[in-house]
Amino acid sequence: MAQTAASLHWLNERTSRHAVRLIDRLQAEPQGERAALIAAILASPASVSPKYFYDAIGCTLFEAICCLPEYYPTRTERSILTEHRAEIVRVAGTNRQFVDLGAGDCAKASMLLPALQPRRYIAVDIAAPAIVPALSRLALAFPRVELVGVVTDFSAELDLADAIDAGPTTFFYPGSSIGNFDPVDALALLLRVRELCGEGSGLLIGVDTKKERSRLEAAYNDALGVTAAFNRNLLNHVNSIVDGDFDPSAFGHVAFYNEAQGRIEMHLEALSAQSVQIDGHERAFDAGERIHTENSYKYEPEEFADLLRRAGFSQISLWQDDARDFAVFHAK
Ligand code: AVJ
Repeated sequence: MAQTAASLHWLNERTSRHAVRLIDRLQAEPQGERAALIAAILASPASVSPKYFYDAIGCTLFEAICCLPEYYPTRTERSILTEHRAEIVRVAGTNRQFVDLGAGDCAKASMLLPALQPRRYIAVDIAAPAIVPALSRLALAFPRVELVGVVTDFSAELDLADAIDAGPTTFFYPGSSIGNFDPVDALALLLRVRELCGEGSGLLIGVDTKKERSRLEAAYNDALGVTAAFNRNLLNHVNSIVDGDFDPSAFGHVAFYNEAQGRIEMHLEALSAQSVQIDGHERAFDAGERIHTENSYKYEPEEFADLLRRAGFSQISLWQDDARDFAVFHAK
């Protein structure tokens, strides 16, 4: 009898560790978000924040982009993380809290979890459709890791209250997602992460590097048109939020490298003059008029190391592939 009770206790403990805690901070202020989205579309030039790419279809299209032959960042970063895994784990430390910023489908983190053995894994993403199923999968694969999901727009504010404690934490920001921020906002985010880094904490971050225009532009103009679909799908997502009637097929995908700014720009270009209703307003577009949908900044490794130092990090490690197409930094 006593033995049964002991096993039951053990089972309960195991079972409780399967529970995924989800903290949803997105609903905090939907009206303000919506008003900002409408104002940006009515403005001239029009723009939509790239955070609106990631509805359910957008998340799936982004996962497809990551598999494209032209889109080298994902596979190059994965190969760097695989090749240098042991050293990365040595530098970052095991048994930490592991905060996965922009976790998406959590695929990159799951490569590191067996080696890093975090005591708690916190997936932070704007897109609930991506992290909810991903955390359920992780719960089966890593039954001993405490799993937390935080649905939030950390470009506005990185608030991890109730998700992490004061213990050592590794922040993970892969995929060159930092590239969506202009350098001033990127520095602000790095400063915020630095502020959250106590003793024994650090940041593991992936950054796409500057390279030949042809390769950069091919990565955002793939032959199958997946990136074009990803870009146009933003209009479907916008329609659902602001009660709009954008016709995605009436806009063309435009992506090019702006070398002076060191960034890929994506735009949606009106294929003909047209008028769109959003939230009861009418927005007329001339033929050829563009909606700016994304910036993706590229950095020389020294440029990015400099940004990390300006954010207050002093010990910086860098790993790259042989072709130096991508850079992975650890900073503490
Ligand atoms: C997720 C922001 C890193 O900029 O390369 C991919 C998004 N846009 N193809 C990037 C994206 C078009 C991606 N980031």
